[in-house]
Amino acid sequence: PRPLKVALLGCGVVGTQVVRLLREQADDLAARIGAPLELAGVAVRRLTRKRDGDVDPALLTVDAEALVTRDDIDIVIEVIGGIEPARSLLLAAMSGGKSVVTANKALLAEDGATLHGAAKRHGVDLYYEASVAGAIPLLRPLRESMAGDRVHRVLGIVNGTTNYILDKMDSTGASFTDALEEAQSLGYAEADPTADVEGFDAAAKAAILAELAFHSRVTAADVHREGITEITATDVASAKAMGYVIKLLAICARSDGGGSVGVRVHPAMIPRSHPLAGVREAYNAVFVEAQSAGQLMFYGKGAGGAPTASAVLGDLVAVARNRIAGTHGPQASTYADLPVHPMGET
Ligand code: HSE
Repeated sequence: PRPLKVALLGCGVVGTQVVRLLREQADDLAARIGAPLELAGVAVRRLTRKRDGDVDPALLTVDAEALVTRDDIDIVIEVIGGIEPARSLLLAAMSGGKSVVTANKALLAEDGATLHGAAKRHGVDLYYEASVAGAIPLLRPLRESMAGDRVHRVLGIVNGTTNYILDKMDSTGASFTDALEEAQSLGYAEADPTADVEGFDAAAKAAILAELAFHSRVTAADVHREGITEITATDVASAKAMGYVIKLLAICARSDGGGSVGVRVHPAMIPRSHPLAGVREAYNAVFVEAQSAGQLMFYGKGAGGAPTASAVLGDLVAVARNRIAGTHGPQASTYADLPVHPMGET
């Protein structure tokens, strides 16, 4: 079978790991898909930057638009982040019949409706497992495995950077600034760490989770948001003395009557005996409570190059299989359009 050609947009912490895995696992991936994958181009902002994972320089280009509209490209992977130019590039790719794999939570949470609309119109896949909670399979379980259940609540820790910071402050007494620097050097933080520490990243992920859990349109603007920048070493120590730990929680819940949805992100005091209190470093954990399934817990690495690349590669295999089969995966939910209240009655 002919190779499926893949364009990669962005070659930072996640992109370099995607390139590495495509090379190291080429044979396994080809066997699982039924055709080889060929990395056909990598769009970057500057050609000169030093990159880990030795990306073939012949594949690099600064012209992302030309890359995504190339006739021979089958699948576009986007790991640039941010709203523009990512949105225009993905829309151009989909209108040209390419399937899309993206890790872009900010874009999906701000304008997911436009992207989903384009995927539907052009009959292509839009997969974004890597956008929420890094390596943890969470979106496909919500969208597919749980499609026959009624989810009441999704609650958890979905930002690795803030969890790393709060954990270091709690376990070593580190200052906020030192802990943030460590999280940045380990590749957990966003390009602008304000997105992490002010809760924007978690709010975007909460919106994506709520949308899938409640089959309702939820955007980042619907989410009540409070970050961790006001939390001092004294707050952390006092919580510890009382047997609590401070965590940044994302909470998405259906109201009691089921007629509306509330989504919020804020720091919370958790008893040290609670399972979420044991979530250390940059790990994430998400509880899903559903009518028939009861309580489920998803736990794993929520940030970092390789864990996030694992989710990207999983999506890549799925969309590649779909292309070969001449089909596409489940489209976005048929929206019930429940009203969304920032605080909800949660
Ligand atoms: N900055 C994000 C985090 C990366 O810390 O969780 C993963 O989305």
